[in-house]
Amino acid sequence: MGLLDGKVAFITGAARAQGRSHAVRFAEEGADIIALDICAPPAAVGYVTATPEDMQETARQVEALGRKIVARVGDVRDQSALDGAVADGVAALGRLDIVVANAGISSWGRFWEMSEERWQAMIDINLTGVWRTLRATAPTMIAQGTGGSMITISSVAGIKSLPGQAHYSAAKHGVVGLTKTAAIELGPHEIRVNSVHPWGVQTPMAEDAELVPVLAAYPEFLNSFGSIMPQLGSAAPRDISEVVLFLASDASRFMTGAQIPVDMGATKV
Ligand SMILES: NC(=O)c1ccc[n+]([C@@H]2O[C@H](COP(=O)([O-])OP(=O)(O)OC[C@H]3O[C@@H](n4cnc5c(N)ncnc54)[C@H](O)[C@@H]3O)[C@@H](O)[C@H]2O)c1
Repeated sequence: MGLLDGKVAFITGAARAQGRSHAVRFAEEGADIIALDICAPPAAVGYVTATPEDMQETARQVEALGRKIVARVGDVRDQSALDGAVADGVAALGRLDIVVANAGISSWGRFWEMSEERWQAMIDINLTGVWRTLRATAPTMIAQGTGGSMITISSVAGIKSLPGQAHYSAAKHGVVGLTKTAAIELGPHEIRVNSVHPWGVQTPMAEDAELVPVLAAYPEFLNSFGSIMPQLGSAAPRDISEVVLFLASDASRFMTGAQIPVDMGATKV
């Protein structure tokens, strides 16, 4: 018996890294997957971006576990792409129980120096993209009438602001406000909504060529980058997946509207 037997999960940003890890971890527990990813550069960023081959690898890993996957290329800024992926996935897999709003980008710069395009792309993807993801899925889950769990992926920067990332911090704090209101509005339908707040995770996003020059120019920014257990280094994607799985499963059935750091205490120092 898996923790998610018979369930279907929609995961954005599922082509690689944390999103793929969540898809595979859920499949190990018996879930079928609806996956969406842009599989292309979403904006100007300083790290390698995902490809269609990455999404094929996610599909291969889910199917190797004997589970089904409906994978779509799409942008979380495009409501019709999200709506279409959900409609296709539910038609093929029969239901929808879990949503993980994981797709996101990262970039760096002081707030008064970054371009309007940089600010806006961040808000459009990391905040409005999460709203669009919940908007694409809530009506189906409400109509299904069997409750469910939505998990939004925020960050330590959704609880404590980071220098060099005003736009990222604003978007990730915004996700917290959205998560709490969604939890209140979906409570009567027994759909729970909680946010997860990772610190450094070993993914391409964390290998950002923009970061080193920013920290070299403003070494005082390092004051904000500590944690309680720095000896652990950065997390593996699977470390985050275990917490996302807990929130997706009935083991957390009394939790909604909560903010769950997975951060070695980074939000506390
Ligand atoms: N890596 C970290 O250190 C870290 C720390 C805290 C929070 N996070 C958050 O975790 C989540 C996953 O990040 P990751 O570390 O796996 O990074 P990643 O860049 O490896 O993966 C993000 C995925 O989202 C996809 N994506 C980006 N923009 C998209 C869009 N507009 N539409 C559809 N898909 C899009 C990308 O193609 C990519 O596959 C993000 O929300 C990120 O902000 C990451």
